[in-house]
Amino acid sequence: MTATQSADRQTTVPQDIRVGVIGVGRMGADHVERISRRIKGARVSVISDYLRETAEKVSAAAPGSRVVDTPEEVISAEDVDAVLIASPGQFHRDQVLAAIAAGKPVLCEKPLAMNPSDAYDVVLAEHGTGRAYVSLGFMRRFDAGYGQLKDALDAGELGAPLILNCKHRNADVLPGFTNVHMVYDSAVHEIDAISFFLEEPVVSVQTLTPRSTENAPEGLSDPMLLLFRTASGTLVTDELYVNTRSGYEVRTELVGSQGSATIGQESGLVSTQLPGGRWGGAVPADFRPRFLDAYDAEVQAWIAAVADGTNVAVRSATAWDGYAAAAVCEAAEQSLSADGAVEITLRERPS
Ligand SMILES: NC(=O)c1ccc[n+]([C@@H]2O[C@H](COP(=O)([O-])OP(=O)(O)OC[C@H]3O[C@@H](n4cnc5c(N)ncnc54)[C@H](O)[C@@H]3O)[C@@H](O)[C@H]2O)c1
Repeated sequence: MTATQSADRQTTVPQDIRVGVIGVGRMGADHVERISRRIKGARVSVISDYLRETAEKVSAAAPGSRVVDTPEEVISAEDVDAVLIASPGQFHRDQVLAAIAAGKPVLCEKPLAMNPSDAYDVVLAEHGTGRAYVSLGFMRRFDAGYGQLKDALDAGELGAPLILNCKHRNADVLPGFTNVHMVYDSAVHEIDAISFFLEEPVVSVQTLTPRSTENAPEGLSDPMLLLFRTASGTLVTDELYVNTRSGYEVRTELVGSQGSATIGQESGLVSTQLPGGRWGGAVPADFRPRFLDAYDAEVQAWIAAVADGTNVAVRSATAWDGYAAAAVCEAAEQSLSADGAVEITLRERPS
């Protein structure tokens, strides 16, 4: 091969997308590890965290990355092509708006914002550019089981969807977790699942609080039941129980007019070697092992979309999905202190 041929060949090798990551606590560090070691076509170039030493520690395990002091520096950095936001939810609106203003695609962890009005600001800002920039981290859309159920529904195999039953369980939650977190942090995943599976708006939600477990901290209603109704009349139940002390479980059953289907009953390894003459398996400790493949698929699909210029993967949640979820969360929160269901009216969707 001549030197010219060699140079030509080098210029046609696709460059890695350089990702700037904002917030590298539990979720952000997990994404840095994923981009650095498990997915193709990307590398982490710049990191920031409110705690500089946290950023330094995570950066040390991400070859070629450097640390800056502020989210603004990440977003404006010349060696950042795309931004991944995993800071706490109250900072998402401003950080996503800054990424849009800089013309950089952004994958933002859920929630898009802490209220519908802030989320709608993002919808309008993105719409104003005439381009898609915002992907939202509802990773279950990339889970294999979710995909199979969605495909079965779309193919008409289950007939008309009548009832969607969701269960969401955690071993425990961090101190300070309240009923509001139960809605905005936990139920928000099932709220997006409604959009994903049924592709229609939620028109009302009622939040029910049965007797709490003795494991729940003072003031937290755990378990909690949310009852949604969609525009076409499908009912959705979401049973949340976040102090089971056992592990992380997410199950979904769709009851259709022609059949029903359940996902999330993966048993993994079932062993007969347990002590005491028992058999059984393990429950994942938290969301990371349970949805590892879904997170990988989500970030890989995002990188592919950034590389081909579409910016948002086909199955990904968008800014509009983030706004719709925020509107339902707000109504669910209101329902905690209301008598009965609270209705939801979405604002106009920009065409
Ligand atoms: N998709 C999922 O399944 C999933 C799971 C867990 C968390 N999340 C989301 O990820 C986000 C982060 O959650 P987490 O569990 O990693 O929380 P965390 O508290 O472990 O990490 C947040 C990090 O952000 C840093 N930080 C705080 N303020 C910041 C700011 N203004 N700018 C930059 N960094 C800042 C903190 O120092 C911390 O290191 C949240 O929005 C959460 O809802 C999503």
